[in-house]
Amino acid sequence: MYRSRPSGNLDNRALSYLSSLTEDSHLLYYDLLGSQAHVIMLYESNILSKKETIEILKGIDLLISDSNSLNEYADTSAEDVHEMVESAIIKMTTMDIGGKMHTARSRNDQVVLDIRMKLRDDLNRISSNLLDLINSLLAKAVEHIDTIMPLYTHLQQAQLGVFSHYLLSYCFSLLRNFERFSENYKRINVSPLGACAIGGSSMNIDRNKVASMLGFSDIVYNSMDATSSRDFLVEFSSNSLNTMLDLCRISEDFIIWSTSEFGFISLDDQFSSSSSAMPQKKNPDPLELIRGKTATIEGNLIAIASIMKGLPSGYSRDLQEIKPLLWKTSSTLDTSIEIMKGIVATICVDQNKMYLASAKSYAVALDIAEQLIKDGDISFRLSHKVIGTIVDYASRLGNIPLSSLTLSDVTAALKKIDFSHQVLTSEKILNLIKMNTPENSLKFRKTKGSPNKNEQKAMINIIEKMVVDYKKDLDVRFNKLHLAKDLLDKKIKRLLDESHNT
Ligand code: ARG
Repeated sequence: MYRSRPSGNLDNRALSYLSSLTEDSHLLYYDLLGSQAHVIMLYESNILSKKETIEILKGIDLLISDSNSLNEYADTSAEDVHEMVESAIIKMTTMDIGGKMHTARSRNDQVVLDIRMKLRDDLNRISSNLLDLINSLLAKAVEHIDTIMPLYTHLQQAQLGVFSHYLLSYCFSLLRNFERFSENYKRINVSPLGACAIGGSSMNIDRNKVASMLGFSDIVYNSMDATSSRDFLVEFSSNSLNTMLDLCRISEDFIIWSTSEFGFISLDDQFSSSSSAMPQKKNPDPLELIRGKTATIEGNLIAIASIMKGLPSGYSRDLQEIKPLLWKTSSTLDTSIEIMKGIVATICVDQNKMYLASAKSYAVALDIAEQLIKDGDISFRLSHKVIGTIVDYASRLGNIPLSSLTLSDVTAALKKIDFSHQVLTSEKILNLIKMNTPENSLKFRKTKGSPNKNEQKAMINIIEKMVVDYKKDLDVRFNKLHLAKDLLDKKIKRLLDESHNT
């Protein structure tokens, strides 16, 4: 577009190949805000006159308030949103005025400024949604402290637990993702503007002033680092993947638990699809899509890293290819969190089915084996053998629950391993088996972080407090951005009002 050395226009095919206008629609708003701050800084640094500043600001104002005006004024040969905005301002104000807007700025610092501004808004929205999702998991957990269910390893019944324990495990995991995003925010919320193409400017600009006008906490100090680095968005993509992996595992669990075979939960109709052929079907499509979209986010992370791998330092146009991937990652994560929040809030839990599965389960075996060693008479390894043999015996009788075994069953089972022990009699073992009801199994397991009721309550308290604290941190972030925006708006209004009054 603004071509000085290459003469003539770009080949049309080359122009559309180069163009990032489609993906730049997400950046337009930020490009305009960034331009407002840049222009005001140029004015306050005595690089632009008041008249020039006001003319440019009026132009930007029109572009913000009237979405058609950009197409009306912008040059059709613009390769991206930055050229589009500049060409529109030049057309509105003349080259002598609008042509000064790009002083001490390059598209290289501009594009990464816009990306950072969009990403910090996306990140804050995602973080806020994440806290809402955690709250809905928490609310369900409070309802299901006593909902006994089997816990699985290798998808085989392992130990007994409660449904709240499951839900709380994801509260913790998602809170860690919230923390990762908060860390990431610090590295996103720094301004690259004024780094220019790569090596700064000889103009007397104030980088920190623009940064604070736009609500950034600081500048990216080194101009080369500011224009070349994209580590903050690799980090964002990786945090997004980590979060999606949590949602994906919850989805997989819920898909399995909502089968007729399990029947532990059912999805609300609002979050279920039907089959075009089979009238009885109620399919968990939203959960399957969360699982499928996790793959997209994983692929985007790899694609972004692959684009960066092999680049030399300094801006290269390859970096443009990252933007659509990033927008896709961010919007997919955002909507997936919202869908999961709706699913969790409306899920129907069949406590009876969960209890029945627990009551027939051999998942109490470890509890019984532990009770057997409490007196210190036998080793855990021997106890493991004894109970394992009894479980094997019961399963050969047709998978009968341990609680249905009789004294002669236990004696017969122990004979198989030639077991006799003065203290450890069949009576004692049978007694322990009967004692280990699902309820007692949970009562006896008191270790920190276990499904024991007191531990559930303790974890709920911890998570509740964390959510409140993190919400406060997030509000501080939102407020800082709003405050900066307010101040910038006021500054612009003052200048524009002055021009009306003179
Ligand atoms: N459209 C470009 C992008 O998205 C903007 C930066 C172009 N800079 C350049 N030197 N060609 O990355």
